[in-house]
Amino acid sequence: MYKIPANTLFVGKKLVYVPECHSTNSLASDLCQHTNAVDGTVIVTDNQTKGRGQRGNKWFSEPYKNLTFSVIVKPSFLLPINQFKLTMVVSLALRDFLAHRLKNKVSIKWPNDIFVNAKKVCGILIENVLAGNTIQYSIIGIGLNVNQELFLMNNVDSMKNISSRTFELAEELELLLEFLESRYLQLRSGNDPMLKEHYTYALYCRDEPKKFEDAEGQFIGTIIDVNDQGKLLIQTPEAIRSYELKQVRMLD
Ligand code: BTN
Repeated sequence: MYKIPANTLFVGKKLVYVPECHSTNSLASDLCQHTNAVDGTVIVTDNQTKGRGQRGNKWFSEPYKNLTFSVIVKPSFLLPINQFKLTMVVSLALRDFLAHRLKNKVSIKWPNDIFVNAKKVCGILIENVLAGNTIQYSIIGIGLNVNQELFLMNNVDSMKNISSRTFELAEELELLLEFLESRYLQLRSGNDPMLKEHYTYALYCRDEPKKFEDAEGQFIGTIIDVNDQGKLLIQTPEAIRSYELKQVRMLD
C-alpha cells in the first residue's frame, strides 16, 4: 500500500489512492477545479485505463506493474514565462532517482523523456493552469516503467529489465517523491542556474552530431543547450537553430 513519505515537507503529505482510473492527471484536474487541493497532493493508481501522454499520445501501462501518478503543485513564485523551469525540476528529479536506483547513465531526452541506455523508461506530462500572469497550479503526471517486462515498442524499457530485480512500487514512489521535492525546493529557493546547468549536462545526445528533421527537411546538427524558454538549441555548420516542441525530431 502506498504510504505518505516520511522525509518530505509537503509533497505527498496528502496522498489519494484509487485502484483504477482513466488518468491520474484528469483526476487531479477535477480535484483542482472542484476543491481547494492542497499543494503537494499526490494521486496514484494501480490501473490507469486511458493514460494521456505528450502531444495527444496515449500512455499505456500494465496494471499493478508500474507507477502512474500525478502531483499537484502551486508554484506561485514562478511566472508563466518561466514554466520550463518546472520541466527541468521534474526531469532532473526522475534522473536523480533512476541514477540512484539503477547506477546506470540516465539522460533527459528533450524536453522531458527519461532515457536509460537509449531507451525510454519514464514519461512526464506537466499541465499548467494559468491565471493572469501567475501559475495557479501545475499537474505533474509521471508514468514510470518499474516492473513491466514486455513492451510493444522496442525503444522502451523498465527498471526491472535494466536491473534484473523486482521493485516494491510503494517504496519507489516514496523515494521518488523525496527527490522531486528536493529539486522543487531548489527552484523555489532561486537556485535555477544550477538546475539549468544540471539539465543541460544531462541532455540526451548533447554534443553528439545527429540527424534531425524539421519543416525544411533533414539536416545534421548537434544539440548544445536549451534557452530559458525551453527551446532546443541545435548547432549546424551555418548557425544555431532554436526549436519548440514538435518543430524538430531526432531521426536515429
Ligand atoms: C509521455 O508522453 O511521455 C508522457 C506520459 C505521461 C504519463 C503519465 S501516467 C500518470 C499521468 N496521468 C496521465 O494520464 N498521464 C500521466
